Amino acid sequence: MGGVGVASARRRGGGVVGAVATEVLKPADVGDAWRTPPVVLERVREFAELAGYHVDVGSCYGVALDPCSGPGSIVSARTEIALPADGLAADWYGIAGDGLVFVNPPYSKPGKWVAKCEEVGRQTDVIALVTAAPDTAWWRWADAVCFWRGRIKFIGPDGIARFPARTPSAVLYWGDVPELFEHAFRTVGKVVRP
Ligand SMILES: C[S@@+](CC[C@H](N)C(=O)[O-])C[C@H]1O[C@@H](n2cnc3c(N)ncnc32)[C@H](O)[C@@H]1O
Repeated sequence: MGGVGVASARRRGGGVVGAVATEVLKPADVGDAWRTPPVVLERVREFAELAGYHVDVGSCYGVALDPCSGPGSIVSARTEIALPADGLAADWYGIAGDGLVFVNPPYSKPGKWVAKCEEVGRQTDVIALVTAAPDTAWWRWADAVCFWRGRIKFIGPDGIARFPARTPSAVLYWGDVPELFEHAFRTVGKVVRP
């Protein structure tokens, strides 16, 4: 972790602000700051358990690295990188080792993140939560893809899951055990193994 700006998992839940502020929050105000909700992370944890990753109090969804974290995130990865540190430039495999990498990239510019997921996914398991957009240039079919059924309610920076996403979502998996990913995500969407 040396040299990398690491956001502590201890700030989990610390993003909750007063009721007045949360009532006026609109999707456009949030920009790239949407947080992954438990409904997704519980599937990640099932995958982690099936794949034999260490799931404990400090890393309750079994994630070793979240390279694009931020205030209010509940991913609780062992290592979380947040701005102003550059998680995109970080050595993901060097940090995560053979651990699980989870990426919910800034939705306004997912391309470089997804490309890096693909690259690192040749070395260790990587799961990415993205917009379901197979028609885009940045899309990768990965080793397995779950097209999420319905719209995910993301958590705003105030810590509250509120607005259903305006677009459908997909969860991409790179790694050697797509059958375990399929098992963990089969109840929340259609899993394809291209
Ligand atoms: C969609 S949010 C996901 C946050 C968290 N990983 C989660 O799943 O709840 C994307 C986050 O990426 C952060 N981000 C954007 N560029 C980054 C960079 N170069 N390095 C680290 N974090 C970055 C944004 O600040 C934002 O909080």
